[in-house]
Amino acid sequence: MNAAKDLALSRDAVADPEVKAANARAATPRRKAPAAGPAPQVAGRPKFHESARAQVAGTATYVDDIPEIRGTLHAAPILSTVAHGRLLGVDAAAALAMPGVRAVILARDIPGDPMLGNFAHDEPVLAQDTVQHIGQVIGVVVADSVMQARRAARQVVCHIEALPAILDVHDALQAQSYVLPPVFVKRGDAAQALKNAAHVMHGTLEVGGQEHFYLEGQVAYVLPQEQNQWLVYSSTQHPGEVQHWVAHALGIDNHALRVECRRMGGGFGGKETQAGHLAVWSAIAAHKLHRPVKLRLDRDDDFMITGKRHSFAYDYTVGFDDGGRITGLKLMMAVNCGFSADLSGPVADRAVFHADNAYFLEDVEIASYRCKTHMQSNTAFRGFGGPQGMIVIETILGDIARQLGLDPLDVRRRNLYGIEKRNVTHYQMKVEDNILDQLLSKLELTAQYRRRREAISAWNAGSPVIKRGMALTPVKFGISFTATLFNQAGALVHVYTDGSVQVNHGGTEMGQGLNTKVAQIVADELGVAFEQVLATASDTGKIPNASATAASAGTDLNARAAQYAARNVRDNLAQFVAGLDGCDAGAVRFAGGEVLTPGSARPFTEVVKLAHANRIQLWSDGFYRTPKIHYDKATLTGRPFYYFAYGAACTEVAIDTLTGESRVLKVDILHDVGTSINPAIDIGQIEGGFVQGMGWLTTEQLVWNDKGLLTTHAPSTYKIPATGDVPEHFKIELWPEPNREDNVFGSKAVGEPPLMLAISVYEALRDAIASARGGKKGVRLTAPATAENVLNSLRA
Ligand code: MTE
Ligand code: MOS
Repeated sequence: MNAAKDLALSRDAVADPEVKAANARAATPRRKAPAAGPAPQVAGRPKFHESARAQVAGTATYVDDIPEIRGTLHAAPILSTVAHGRLLGVDAAAALAMPGVRAVILARDIPGDPMLGNFAHDEPVLAQDTVQHIGQVIGVVVADSVMQARRAARQVVCHIEALPAILDVHDALQAQSYVLPPVFVKRGDAAQALKNAAHVMHGTLEVGGQEHFYLEGQVAYVLPQEQNQWLVYSSTQHPGEVQHWVAHALGIDNHALRVECRRMGGGFGGKETQAGHLAVWSAIAAHKLHRPVKLRLDRDDDFMITGKRHSFAYDYTVGFDDGGRITGLKLMMAVNCGFSADLSGPVADRAVFHADNAYFLEDVEIASYRCKTHMQSNTAFRGFGGPQGMIVIETILGDIARQLGLDPLDVRRRNLYGIEKRNVTHYQMKVEDNILDQLLSKLELTAQYRRRREAISAWNAGSPVIKRGMALTPVKFGISFTATLFNQAGALVHVYTDGSVQVNHGGTEMGQGLNTKVAQIVADELGVAFEQVLATASDTGKIPNASATAASAGTDLNARAAQYAARNVRDNLAQFVAGLDGCDAGAVRFAGGEVLTPGSARPFTEVVKLAHANRIQLWSDGFYRTPKIHYDKATLTGRPFYYFAYGAACTEVAIDTLTGESRVLKVDILHDVGTSINPAIDIGQIEGGFVQGMGWLTTEQLVWNDKGLLTTHAPSTYKIPATGDVPEHFKIELWPEPNREDNVFGSKAVGEPPLMLAISVYEALRDAIASARGGKKGVRLTAPATAENVLNSLRA
């Protein structure tokens, strides 16, 4: 900012009598400022979500609520009915003859590259010669109304010659069918360690995927503007990528396209890349017809088309000592990526990075296979591979404890990362902020783990049918995008002459409260009330090249960028006021809606007016990039994470051994968000993340038939947790310590880590199954632990 150096002049530079009068008024302070500035007024408090009232009242605008401009047409997708095949032809005659139908758009209508402009460049925008999963989009029907388009899309006949399809990750592994080459990470000598181990255990595990089930389905609305320029409303976590993909498909420059997103009705990773497809399809149709086109997917189509959480299959051999400490581990992960790469590379990488969870693995060898199947292309989902990395090590530790007849918590604690020793991860990052031992000790006490374990044993002894189980499991989750370049953010802060403030940043609001936290940080930076700061829609025309709002880093990145932008404005104002009072700019403070110098206190609004009259810049940009991080993509070694977020959950469950049904009875959570910017939002994130993780591991089962048809594609067949599934006892406490790294407000990211606390549900279920089965054998439980899978596990 260059404005600062002009400020000293500003006091005398004004000839305007009105300004002169105002300056004179301002020069006479109202009252003396207090000696010390108050603590932050806004951040750290449980402010309401900035949209809460509008959302409750139904007045918050989502893409489908934007009033349609005259001439808007509606699109509906034409889906492949074959998992793998040659596309011989498309007969659209019947569809075109239907009322209201304007066009059938196919791959040949794409003006730019027929391949999607994504990183791997392996995915056709619309299927051309081959189809690769049931539900792949071959084209779209465009009609006057949504229902006309949807009905007509069903009448398009696609001639497809079926080819052999790979519908199982094990078959893909066998056939070496990969979307990306395998990755191997190794430390020490696992083979030798296994040879020397006192005990060796071999096992396998299958963990299912998960549908995002955002309440607002995928939607895009594309409006042609003058001179081949475009406006796109998209429900997306990544407006910049939507811009890039649409420009790529239309063969135009990025600057000719503006993408806006005020909010999503949930994203959960499902709108990180997948939102882009809809925008591209709509844009191609809009380009051909010179009309605005909207595409809002029917829920069943959304299930059929879009990618989900990756399912994983594992094979492991682990060596351990008499106390249950792991001495060697060989682990294979087969990742079901679906038909294209999408984000599978970084998801599979994050699973490798989190295969340790909270535990030191000295001699370890991990193989990660990114398998190609003829299924939906799996994508980001809260945790981004982290949950799939952690669940296998937690499974292993639970089984080690059972085999040795030890308490699983004791075995877990024996394996934790140390402070001085045993503190380097298998990817060579030193764990510097380890609070695991204290955190587990505290939760063990507050949840009364030992006493309840005894009570559960006694209860199980007298209960032949209903069995209880309990588990206390930790989470250590790395914060930062593993791709270092994504860890940057920009923001704009505008102060208007009435003292009201607008903040805009590259992040997106999906319900997680990012805008609220950003506004809180900006309010404190300027010393104004929360209500004085308004966060506005994400817009590629305001902040360019922004990263996806993902990896839980939304607040870390964007709130810091916004803080820096606000700081620039504040510095301008401080210089200006220092000039008025003849004090040092460093002595000027902003708090409680006032600007304070050692000798004066003026209302912020007045200072702003005056500064404007004196031609002081009242707006600024801010830019932030995460320090310290780096890593080598080839070997997956380095410091991919700025810091770790920690947490632990103690969960008690009951199972019915006759039906396999289960219930989560009690949950106690201790979670580390550093110094919370907004405890209400953070606790909401912890609750929501936990319950979503519980759904993944209990009821949310995706089933494909032997033709590759997803048969669970609506709420009638796919069961997410409902309010009645939330445990009656659900206590959440925040760890009372700031982030040890210099992060905004001393906070830590909270979006994803709590999801993995739900691994305690899975481990508690296995504990209950173990007591039903008696003896010390391991428990094989396929996730999700549906009633069927629990019964199978009991009988195995
Ligand atoms: N919370 C709500 N209510 N809705 C969402 O879609 N997405 C989660 C998490 N919490 C999500 C949510 C995911 S996957 C991520 S990565 C983070 O929010 C993203 O936002 P943040 O980085 O601002 O925390
Ligand atoms: Mo979250 S899966 O990083 O969008």
